[in-house]
Amino acid sequence: MKKVVWFVLVFTLFGCSGNGEKFDGVFEGRPRVNPPYVVGNYPGTEFIFAIPTSGERPMTWTVEGLPEGLTLNEKTGIIRGVVKEAGDYGVKITAKNAHGSQVSELQIRIGKELALTPVMGWNSWNTFGQHLTEALIIETAEALIANGMRDLGYNYINIDDLWQLKERGADGHIVIDSTKFPRGIKYVADYLHERGFRLGIYSDASKYTCAGVCGSLGYEEVDARDFAEWGVDLLKYDYCGAPASRDTAIVRYRKMGEALRATDRSIIYNICEWGRRKPWEWAKEVGGHYWRTTEDIRDAWDLRESGTGLYGIMDIIDVNGELADYAGPGFWNDPDMLVVGIFGNSSSINSGKVQYGCTLKEYRTHMSMWCMMAAPLLSGNDVRNMPDSVLNILTNPEIIAINQDQLGIQGKMVKKEGDCEIWIKPLYKGEVALAVMNRGEQAEKVEVPLQLAGFVNKALVRDVWLHRDLGEYESLKLDLEPHVTVVLRLTQH
Ligand code: GLA
Repeated sequence: MKKVVWFVLVFTLFGCSGNGEKFDGVFEGRPRVNPPYVVGNYPGTEFIFAIPTSGERPMTWTVEGLPEGLTLNEKTGIIRGVVKEAGDYGVKITAKNAHGSQVSELQIRIGKELALTPVMGWNSWNTFGQHLTEALIIETAEALIANGMRDLGYNYINIDDLWQLKERGADGHIVIDSTKFPRGIKYVADYLHERGFRLGIYSDASKYTCAGVCGSLGYEEVDARDFAEWGVDLLKYDYCGAPASRDTAIVRYRKMGEALRATDRSIIYNICEWGRRKPWEWAKEVGGHYWRTTEDIRDAWDLRESGTGLYGIMDIIDVNGELADYAGPGFWNDPDMLVVGIFGNSSSINSGKVQYGCTLKEYRTHMSMWCMMAAPLLSGNDVRNMPDSVLNILTNPEIIAINQDQLGIQGKMVKKEGDCEIWIKPLYKGEVALAVMNRGEQAEKVEVPLQLAGFVNKALVRDVWLHRDLGEYESLKLDLEPHVTVVLRLTQH
């Protein structure tokens, strides 16, 4: 008879930190080089990469095998330069501090592809909307450095809508709103690049953006060149005010995709037409690296029964979860930016008669599932000012490692039992991430045979929120509170 080992996990709100094994914070202990372990860049364009490393400071880094054209600053761990020759370069990184050293491998792929793992960073829209300024961007960058998020891989800082004036200038260029960005966008880009960040910006495939300021239709080349000259590294390209037709969308997105590709920078291209024209079927061909699959996310758990037609976390998972086969290294489904830690404090994404804000457990489920779905991780909260409970969700290195796994497979739901869903994401070197999400309002007991994840015998099981090895199992029985998600990392025994 098959031996079943029963294991019960009972979660309390703060149980994840309190019950776990001792777990070093971002700036404690030995060096740990975090993912991504594979990065792409176009030949002949600027490469900027802050080696994401946890551990006590001061820290120093050394590298072997850097391609010609790149240099490492050994005190900051930032690699910069331009590589002319396409190729795959294996780089050996050693990070060292008072507690010891760690060696890690980084693949630098100079070629046709970017975003070999999902983009990580921060975007201004979800909390700040129109309240967007140079000071906010600079303070956000400093906060991401001080709180350790940059060292966990959050390295794109994305300016969303409303950095520009409504009307295009007489010279044919977009006019930067100088009350918000008095020193221009290039000043901000330079500031970020020196600190190992990359800068994202926003425009729209029609005359005006969603918030009613200048878009790029008819000026794609001019704008793409301006963005590149300023040092922009990513464009989110929206679709407000544009015709519904899919053919038109493809033409308009292709035009900007080609314009970006013709610049001398590696610019990641985010297609944002909210999934209405099935962009997963055509976004890659027009130069896109990731594409929104749904309407805008709201800071809410589940809005299906609200009658508003708005999308909360669960509503988005239901759509994005079906599209796993379209994702892979360089090309990702985008279930929209994170609402982790917003707690209802947003004027831009919360409208209508809905109760906004989620609990910590719900935000942890949100983070878990975005990682299982290999989604871009763009935090949207005020990172200058957040409680540790929120920071712990955003900076859990083990859940981020699942998101940033180099196989780049989007996880899928493999079983549903009542309100509990079991999701599987295959990882590099035969490991598997398994998540069990209780989306219902009652506590649930679920048995999870690890055969579901392809393990014939026992697997070694680690809980990535408890930071604890649980042992070897053939099957687990989990006790899940409402809205909680357990995420396990499984390794062949
Ligand atoms: C659209 C996008 C959002 C945000 C706003 C800005 O709604 O989907 O993510 O960029 O526009 O106006």
